[in-house]
Amino acid sequence: MNMQPKHPYIVGISGASGVIISKKIVDSLLAKELEVVTVFSNASKLVWDQELSTSYQTDILEWSEYPNYTNYAVGDLTAPIASGSYHTNGMIIVPCSMNSVASLGNGITNNLLLRSADVCLKEKRPLTIIPRETPLHAIHLSNLTKLATMGATIMPTDPPFYLGLQTTAEIVDYFVAKVLIQLGIETELPEKFRYLGK
Ligand SMILES: Cc1cc2nc3c(=O)[nH]c(=O)nc-3n(C[C@H](O)[C@H](O)[C@H](O)COP(=O)(O)O)c2cc1C
Repeated sequence: MNMQPKHPYIVGISGASGVIISKKIVDSLLAKELEVVTVFSNASKLVWDQELSTSYQTDILEWSEYPNYTNYAVGDLTAPIASGSYHTNGMIIVPCSMNSVASLGNGITNNLLLRSADVCLKEKRPLTIIPRETPLHAIHLSNLTKLATMGATIMPTDPPFYLGLQTTAEIVDYFVAKVLIQLGIETELPEKFRYLGK
């Protein structure tokens, strides 16, 4: 029997467009009975309420029904994920605003989302960044390059035009599957996503 402790995946949600992807990633990790910790930046709460039909508070409440789910306030720098001694499976920042990219690329860690991502970098744990901005100027690109150089995986949300997907929901499902595969999480794929996982 595998007695390995279950370490959490941290999902950091910052204030950029695309929070439908954050919601689907948390739903998918919880459905797989994986441990999940979320941290919402203050700006992400505005975006959540603008882009989704449910409020972030309602979603946190629903996820809290799962025993494998925890949310920490972004100001709670005493949370375990702020410490390198607390083991995690790494972190996904989805979506990642250019503000958070800039902070992380320059070692600024003045909230729990940034601190826990910085911990992943210093402890060499996986950090997947899903940036959302267009167009990107040279400072955005330079900060993303710094993070990539430090080992973070940068995954823009580019749609797979070659698959002929028809709806936003299909594109989100595809992207979430791609992120889960990138994290090494076993993921069943419908035939329409045939190029993934091969
Ligand atoms: C509705 C809305 C959408 C936004 N979309 C983006 C975006 O796609 N990318 C981005 O970098 N910033 C976006 N912003 C601006 C960020 O929220 C802002 O820079 C904020 O300071 C980010 O803080 P955070 O990194 O702590 O979440 C958006 C703001 C709002 C209110």
